[in-house]
Amino acid sequence: MRNEDTTMHVRGTSQFVDDIPVSAGALHAVLFTSPVARGKIRSLDISKAAAAPGVAAVYTYRDVPGLNQVGHMMKDQPLLAVDSVEYIGQPIALVVAETQRAARRAMRLIEADIEKLEAVFDPREAAAKGMIHGKKRMLVSGDPDAAFARCAHVAQGRLASGPQEHFYFETQRALAVPGEHDTIKVHASAQSPGAFHHHLAEVLGIPMHKVELDIRRLGGGFGGKESTAVWIVAPAMAAFLLKRPVKLVLERNDDIATTGKRHAYEYDYKLGLDAEGNILAYEVTLFQHAGACADISPAVLGRSFLHASGSYRIPNIRVTAVSCRTNIPPNNAFRGFGVPQGTFAIEAALTRAAEVMGVEAEMVKRRNLLRDGDTLPYGVTLSEVNAARCWETLDKKTNLAARRAAVAAYNKAHTDTKKGLAVVPVCFGISFAQMALNQASSLVNIYVDGSVSVSTGAVEMGQGVNAKIRVIAARTLGINVDKVRVDTTNTSRIPNASPTSASTGADLNGMATKFACEKLYARLQEFAARHFKAAGPASVQIRDENIFIDGKAEALTWEKFVAAAQWARVDLSEHAFYATPNLHYDMETERGRPFAYYSYGASLTEVRLDCVRGTYKIEAIDIVQDAGESLSPAIDLGQIEGAVIQGMGWATMEQLRYGADGRVLTGVNAYKVPDIKFCPKRFDVTLLKDSSNPYAVCNSKAIGEPPFVHGLGAYLALCNALRSVRRDKDAPSLPVTPEKAFMYLHGPAQ
Ligand code: MTE
Ligand code: MOS
Repeated sequence: MRNEDTTMHVRGTSQFVDDIPVSAGALHAVLFTSPVARGKIRSLDISKAAAAPGVAAVYTYRDVPGLNQVGHMMKDQPLLAVDSVEYIGQPIALVVAETQRAARRAMRLIEADIEKLEAVFDPREAAAKGMIHGKKRMLVSGDPDAAFARCAHVAQGRLASGPQEHFYFETQRALAVPGEHDTIKVHASAQSPGAFHHHLAEVLGIPMHKVELDIRRLGGGFGGKESTAVWIVAPAMAAFLLKRPVKLVLERNDDIATTGKRHAYEYDYKLGLDAEGNILAYEVTLFQHAGACADISPAVLGRSFLHASGSYRIPNIRVTAVSCRTNIPPNNAFRGFGVPQGTFAIEAALTRAAEVMGVEAEMVKRRNLLRDGDTLPYGVTLSEVNAARCWETLDKKTNLAARRAAVAAYNKAHTDTKKGLAVVPVCFGISFAQMALNQASSLVNIYVDGSVSVSTGAVEMGQGVNAKIRVIAARTLGINVDKVRVDTTNTSRIPNASPTSASTGADLNGMATKFACEKLYARLQEFAARHFKAAGPASVQIRDENIFIDGKAEALTWEKFVAAAQWARVDLSEHAFYATPNLHYDMETERGRPFAYYSYGASLTEVRLDCVRGTYKIEAIDIVQDAGESLSPAIDLGQIEGAVIQGMGWATMEQLRYGADGRVLTGVNAYKVPDIKFCPKRFDVTLLKDSSNPYAVCNSKAIGEPPFVHGLGAYLALCNALRSVRRDKDAPSLPVTPEKAFMYLHGPAQ
């Protein structure tokens, strides 16, 4: 089954927040934001703006009816700045006017006198000064110091990976409509219904039952709409105070300049191997460039931290991680949720170690790949490991050795162009690291005409979660998918919902839906047993919209059957709840079982580099990904392709630049994302066969984020090509833009 929205997207008929018809009298809001990275607000004059044509109101922190706070993990983020600012783009005032244009014009009339203070933009400097969010984390397993002394080969150095702009099609936006009795309905492009519902009520100073947050779909979220409620709460506050509908839609360049990104990281690493190439010890420090507020950074860092060992068996390890507080907009989640950053360091370190040993990286990787019985640094002993199966399937599909030999032969024969190759294994833990979030509920209603509606906390953002939920409901009830519709994500129907993120959307909400449908199915079996005078509920089966008693079909269709059930006063609605079992983690000892299971994969990326110009082409990528028993192969293949293209963009061409004053310099005209021409000609994706997963709904596995990590293959393959030319300096940092490749090839030695 395909993503049901696809056709509508292509035709342009899908409704996003800005397409919702608004009544006459609706207003538009824009934010006045800080022009300096760190400063003290001496004075703020809004009088000219308030008097400008078409302006309904200009609000500052003084006007916030409830709590002036939108911090996601920590209460460190005011909705509107009070007396200081911590980053360029921090909201200071809210202008509401008849049109967006009038609001923008008036916004420029605001006069802020801000005393500039010294700002910090370097994560290492912030860490040295103790400017961190939360606590420094350290995880030690085995005895790394003793093990390094036994190593035959040691690779060490520094690494860096860059930020990434989410570039969702639909920028941050919301429409708020006030109702009677101080209630408010908010339509938003948001991944976190429960948390944002809570923020809305807190800021407005009203109970949550007076706030209804409704989400139909997102034009992409990718993690960027999970934690920062500013752009949803701000128009809601204006609508609440003015008693008129208010809409806020961020313009693209404002979105790029003021919203969070994927975190850039810096790393110190040391990796030691024995003479045969077995990893003995690994030490890595992660410096996460978090920005001015904690936002969701500690959670993202936690995931990088827990994935520092990648897909490898590392008996002695020390991982240190800090979330560095700097004066840039608070960074947030982005597909992979820190795993790509954590995995990057071990992949780059192993690649360097292979160079030191004088062998190809894939030899060392294959040797150290996780297998059943291995123990991860935080104490989980693995079973049902599919790392090697993915690798072997990839090898069979591509003939790794032959591909490597062909690259070597090509490079021998060519001087102006070089090829490079990299194999990347993926091991990605599934569950929210924050235990409380691993819960979901589902409300299933069967109507008298036989149609079924399902409401869950899952947010559809293009990943096809609604289609998967339909498959689960239809399968469980024994009816066709076209009988099932997934309703909007709405806090009045499904309260306190976890965000749709960490690739758990289908897992959690799908399981809750399955439970609800199973309860309904059992109730219908009981009714059928009475109705048809069967021996008991067990002799009743509902299949393909027919009712079978002891294997024989009754002459009653599903529609007539449920109508009869309703007439006989059988409850046709059910709510069910699911909480992932057997999860536990102790942050003091850094030991536990934080993930329900792992998604595995392996990929081979091949590139061709123009050594004169530094330009390159990703020529081929082959991927084997473990999706368990896929709920929808069409959707899963699309998710893999989308994720890896996004990953390749992060690894190669997407470069965000900040000015010396902390301003984002790359607007929409300068920030490049992959397009169809960038995609490799050979793009071969296979789902691992015979993979079953007892730990998730219908034996499926999460797919939304894990394949992003394969994008690292583009970076590693390019470095492979670059280093076939020269090795008198360290490999470039991620991303390897053509400019960086050129400078690496033609610039000075270290
Ligand atoms: N696919 C599309 N088309 N658009 C998106 O915004 N977000 C990704 C992934 N796939 C995203 C996407 C991210 S960051 C996550 S966490 C998962 O989808 C969330 O959905 P799931 O948990 O239902 O897989
Ligand atoms: Mo995804 S980054 O967990 O929303």
